[in-house]
Amino acid sequence: MAGSDPLHGNAKPYLFLVAPWLVRADRTGEKLHVSGTMSRFPAIFLILILSLSSSAQVKPGDKENKADPSWPSHYSKGRKTFDGTGKYYMGREISYVMGHQAIRWLERSNREEEEAPSKAIAALNLKPTDVIADIGAGSGYYTFRLAPLVPKGKVVAVDIQPEMIDFLERKEKQLGLTNVEAHLGEVDDTKLKPGSINAALMVDAYHEFSHPREMMESLFKALKPGGRIILLEYRAEDPTVPIKPLHKMSVAQSRKEMEAVGLKWKSTDSKLLPWQHFMIFEKPAGAKGKKRESLEK
Ligand SMILES: C[S@@+](CC[C@H](N)C(=O)[O-])C[C@H]1O[C@@H](n2cnc3c(N)ncnc32)[C@H](O)[C@@H]1O
Repeated sequence: MAGSDPLHGNAKPYLFLVAPWLVRADRTGEKLHVSGTMSRFPAIFLILILSLSSSAQVKPGDKENKADPSWPSHYSKGRKTFDGTGKYYMGREISYVMGHQAIRWLERSNREEEEAPSKAIAALNLKPTDVIADIGAGSGYYTFRLAPLVPKGKVVAVDIQPEMIDFLERKEKQLGLTNVEAHLGEVDDTKLKPGSINAALMVDAYHEFSHPREMMESLFKALKPGGRIILLEYRAEDPTVPIKPLHKMSVAQSRKEMEAVGLKWKSTDSKLLPWQHFMIFEKPAGAKGKKRESLEK
């Protein structure tokens, strides 16, 4: 399905703003640093344009948004803003998928300094026996840091790009690990077995799922009762977070979308990490998930 979906098919180069630099991970994965007094003007101009485009979000009921007969009714077609797909879910425009060409950006050496992933990992409170899925694992930046924490369990690293899966498999061999499972999913299905995981982590990935509802329904099924979803997204409420608007999410939007499939919100920590929200949701014991009809109301 990944290849046949026009909204997913062309994974775009990822453009990041890291003030005062403009960092673009292009087809070669190279970073372009624009610095110096003169070169700051284009970056500032771009920040302005991007913040304007974020306010261009359209709500599902708006006249501008239309149902597309080829999509399920929970998605609508609206204005395509910068780096957006023009596909809307619960009032949010879905962004393009980050291409595998940006692996070097994901693996950048200053990521700890910028995003403090070690703090996020410590806050997961994993048990050695846990089976945790890293959904939208990419190059496995998180996956390979989680693996030593679950020596009697495993990390299932799920991604839809075969290039990411190859990278994950090669790196697992290089590191001599045996508890990482690279797992190719589909845009609308994690392909995980029902009741097979204790937790799922999604770091900077959920906002680019082209089929967020189907993905979350699939993940809901894959969780054991009482299992947790840990969602890390760049803070949309904070204009100082130097990331493109469509690659950010607010707490209110995240809660709305997670709760729509029957997950229970447990906590939000927006101070733990420099740029991201750290949110935890739970699959309540005995919960069967919400029916789609009731989700629309
Ligand atoms: C911005 S990258 C983040 C990678 C990683 N989580 C990290 O923080 O280093 C997002 C990843 O999500 C993946 N992705 C997008 N849609 C997906 C889906 N429906 N299922 C699984 N992975 C998906 C992309 O292929 C990409 O590798």
